[in-house]
Amino acid sequence: MLDIASGAGSSSDPRASWVLRGITSNERYVAREERNQIVAKLLDLGRPKATCAALIPIRKNKAWWSLTQDERLSIFREQSNHTRIGLEHYPELARRLHHCRDLSESEPFDFLTWFEYEPAQETRFNKLLAALRAIEEWKYVEREVDIRLVREEV
Ligand code: HEM
Repeated sequence: MLDIASGAGSSSDPRASWVLRGITSNERYVAREERNQIVAKLLDLGRPKATCAALIPIRKNKAWWSLTQDERLSIFREQSNHTRIGLEHYPELARRLHHCRDLSESEPFDFLTWFEYEPAQETRFNKLLAALRAIEEWKYVEREVDIRLVREEV
């Protein structure tokens, strides 16, 4: 079972065997034009029809974090086209990026990525993931765990 607790004062269930923490943060790599495109298409989280979700915690390696910000920007944008690939494959994908590293460097992951989609869109989502796993930026991903969830009717 997965429980999501939101808010600064939220506490985790003491019986939980695994607790991951992250916060939404400022953007580092998005350009104004891309942001406009993202905002224009992006669907909201929590839509009743989007019963599938993916929680993908990601850790990048030391090499990534030892780069300068402009080097990371160049890999993310020019060498990898992360945002363009996302917008080409699945522009309306409902998603939220949480940064763990902004809390501390000793969290088990650097990012908690969260996506919601309708069951019929699963293949499309998987194709997007495959495309991202082939880009230069992903060479710096040291660990990722692909957790898929389906919301049950209550
Ligand atoms: C429509 C699809 C997607 C779009 C438009 C998109 C766009 C973006 C953008 C603009 C950022 C940078 C935010 C910033 O400026 O700091 C970002 C970061 C990130 N995205 Fe995506 N993304 C998409 C899908 C995905 C998927 C499927 C994954 C897979 C897990 C993913 C993983 C990440 C990660 C880990 C980061 C943080 C990178 C870092 O700061 O080093 N994204 N994404």
